Amino acid sequence: MRFHVLTLFPEMIENVVNTSIIGRAIKQDHIEVDTVNIRDYSANKHMRVDDYPYGGGAGMVMEAEPVYRAMQKVNEKLGSKPRTVYLTPQGKVLNQTMVEEFAQCEDLILLCGHYEGIDERVLEETVTDYVSIGDYVLTGGELGAVVMIDAISRFVPGVLSNEESSQFESLQDNLLEYPHYTRPEVWHEKKVPEVLLCGDHKKIESWRYEQSVKRTRERRPDLLAKSCRMYGAYIGEEQVTELANRFTDEISRYGESMDLNRKKLRKQRFEFSKKDLLLLFLDKKAFAADMDPVIGHNFTGKHTPCVVFWAGKSSEDENIAGLLERLERRGFLILHIFCEVLDPERFDSRREALRVRQMLEKRKM
Ligand SMILES: C[S@@+](CC[C@H](N)C(=O)[O-])C[C@H]1O[C@@H](n2cnc3c(N)ncnc32)[C@H](O)[C@@H]1O
Repeated sequence: MRFHVLTLFPEMIENVVNTSIIGRAIKQDHIEVDTVNIRDYSANKHMRVDDYPYGGGAGMVMEAEPVYRAMQKVNEKLGSKPRTVYLTPQGKVLNQTMVEEFAQCEDLILLCGHYEGIDERVLEETVTDYVSIGDYVLTGGELGAVVMIDAISRFVPGVLSNEESSQFESLQDNLLEYPHYTRPEVWHEKKVPEVLLCGDHKKIESWRYEQSVKRTRERRPDLLAKSCRMYGAYIGEEQVTELANRFTDEISRYGESMDLNRKKLRKQRFEFSKKDLLLLFLDKKAFAADMDPVIGHNFTGKHTPCVVFWAGKSSEDENIAGLLERLERRGFLILHIFCEVLDPERFDSRREALRVRQMLEKRKM
């Protein structure tokens, strides 16, 4: 991935990105960070890039023309107009879903303002996204740009080593992470929680989930309100099973898989709340005589969002259409139906996991 930073102070970017993990990623060619000095594109023989604001008032405004020329230079070099972000306190506040979405870009332009900001007209012509890094005002966009480069790069394959990479960042689930401990076992008479020493992975995961929820409730109740528990239920041949497990793992650290191929589970009744998300993975086998009624009868929702992953070609298929109707009657809100999910050409589980998260965020706005 390549970042193109348009700025009056390239050294502010270069000094930061050439160190630590991001510096290593640049050296290893996983990412590229090019800086473009807007001053080099001044339309003025004194290389001035700012002027007094029309209408009066304090401060200076960056002129449109140098920004426009710098932008054109980058677009010409690339032969395309990539997504162009203006860092501004008036933008959408950056979050982990946005970061993951930007990480899908091959090229990303980051435009840094200074002084009072930039002439509105060039922003209207060139900018695709307005992003803020928080509700406070900085002196320039450069620190915002390096924050974005750092957070986005973590999603670029190869940037994090296996040890550094955790597939799940706490915020992906709208939960803060559980507390961490390392040696020694006792420090200042404080002992590491017993459960972490027991070696039982299931117990540890469930303790970590509880701690995450507790911590989020105490520190970020706004996030907790947005978080939901994901259930990946599936009936089908091996490929469906494999997809369901992979996708459920991809979308949430605490996602729970429900294997409805197992008779015992098919006999149980399940109630979901509006704080859950049901992911339903199905192929034709789901509609075989002894399987069919399961989901539509044993599952009850309460305005529970549901996303269906169907191996067949179309959601018009009689079987699936009937099932969707039953689910809606039983309290589920169908957010989306993905078809042909076993075709890797059509269904990329990483990309679609991000899409599902975006759908959930939109619903909550
Ligand atoms: C002093 S600020 C200008 C603020 C502008 N007058 C306003 O009130 O919206 C100068 C530059 O810093 C950057 N900046 C300031 N706060 C920011 C934030 N929270 N997120 C991202 N960029 C920010 C922007 O690029 C902006 O053009």
